[in-house]
Amino acid sequence: MRKNIAIFASGSGSNAEKIILHFNAKNTAQVVCVFSNKSEAYALNRAKKHNIPTQFFPFKEWRTPTNIIQKLKDFNVDYIVLAGFLLKVPQALIHLYPNRIINIHPALLPKYGGKGMYGENVHKAVIEAKEKESGITIHFIDEDYDKGTTIFQAKCKVLPTDTPESLAEKIHKLEHQYYPKTIEEVIISE
Ligand code: GAR
Repeated sequence: MRKNIAIFASGSGSNAEKIILHFNAKNTAQVVCVFSNKSEAYALNRAKKHNIPTQFFPFKEWRTPTNIIQKLKDFNVDYIVLAGFLLKVPQALIHLYPNRIINIHPALLPKYGGKGMYGENVHKAVIEAKEKESGITIHFIDEDYDKGTTIFQAKCKVLPTDTPESLAEKIHKLEHQYYPKTIEEVIISE
């Protein structure tokens, strides 16, 4: 049976779009909706372009996620995929979707994770610490920020000449290459 994926995204949505396109061509799963906590998130435009239903939920709805849960049920969602989603996932969702919420983090966890560590902040911290390598971590979400079981990691070199922008570009390449297929592997291994 084809599984249904909901994507949560707060920003540009380049990962969300890669995931939508990957599963468009597959019968293992499909993206059925994209939710955001930001009404202006470009991720919502990208989803609309591919005819995927979108929904904006303001901050207070994520604190008491009754409406979000109802929507996930309406769409028969099996898996939640976070793609640049910058809010903490409500406990109620973690309980409803045990080992079915997948996140990508733009560093090699457990380093450079936790509160405030997202997007550019992560790359700045990695460069300031003069790390020789960084990478991506795909993991299940549990109650703690960035601490669920790791599913997959990939590395890239950090050069002395790298800036947060150039490192972000390398990381995005890895994310686009590995996130859709790692999600698919999780789904088909069930
Ligand atoms: C990605 O690099 C993702 O790893 C990061 O936000 C970016 C979103 O890019 N997520 C986090 O930092 C979560 N802690 P996108 O909107 O182009 O997919």
